[in-house]
Amino acid sequence: MGILDKHKILEKNITLLTIFAFFVVTIGGLVQIVPLFYLDNTIEKVEGMRPYTPLELAGRDIYVREGCYVCHSQMVRPMRDEVERYGHYSLAAESMYDHPFQWGSKRTGPDLARLGGRYSDDWHVDHLRNPQSVVPESVMPKYGFLEARLIDGEYIEDVMSTHRFLGVPYTDEMLENGQEDFAAQADPEGDYDGLLERYGEDINVRNFDGQPGISEADALIAYLQMLGTLVDFSTFTPDASR
Ligand code: HEC
Repeated sequence: MGILDKHKILEKNITLLTIFAFFVVTIGGLVQIVPLFYLDNTIEKVEGMRPYTPLELAGRDIYVREGCYVCHSQMVRPMRDEVERYGHYSLAAESMYDHPFQWGSKRTGPDLARLGGRYSDDWHVDHLRNPQSVVPESVMPKYGFLEARLIDGEYIEDVMSTHRFLGVPYTDEMLENGQEDFAAQADPEGDYDGLLERYGEDINVRNFDGQPGISEADALIAYLQMLGTLVDFSTFTPDASR
């Protein structure tokens, strides 16, 4: 019996075909997926990536809680129109500390992956309070209430240790000083040397919402102002050797 005849047996027997097809797909799938678990360079490492500061992490949680991702993506695709509008396309490494990542697929509003530094803090305060005041045709809802909700980072160290459990390289020192660093980032008058030492010199330390106390708006704006700014694309060159 030739190979073609043997194959005909498979083609005519639906049960056998299903079993064989299942095997083929399983083997093919495993061959693709399993090596990724054993490679430590699945994600190309890039300079500049660091874990979120406690305040940014709190801001990110507010971003998720408020469903900003329902209207905003955080992924610039490598296509010309996107790169011209938003900036350098997103790298996998840029969301390596995101659990869960915020790529999204819905763009009622613009992509936010390269938002950091594009607008002033005041602009964000006005825009969150009343988006139509700065962009008259905007359909974005108002988030002014965030300014009135004061937070103290009471649980931030627990949140950080959860992220550490998921692979974010928070050090013991970062965890121990979580709540302190949380407050330090929103208080430019205070002592924030420790924060810069732990997370880097480029951390934005400001009273983001311009009002006394640390509010959810402070945390959210701290997060928004950092988005897409960690990797310096004036010096970045993709490593094609891999
Ligand atoms: C119902 C959809 C919707 C939701 C939900 C939404 N936005 Fe928007 N957003 C928009 C639209 C539309 C625009 C474009 C017009 C404008 O700038 O207001 C926009 C614009 C923005 C901009 C300006 C971006 C740029 O590059 O000009 C920022 C920042 C922003 N949104 C942040 C947020 C944050 C933070 C949240 C969650 C707290 C959020 N948005 C929730 C629809 C939405």
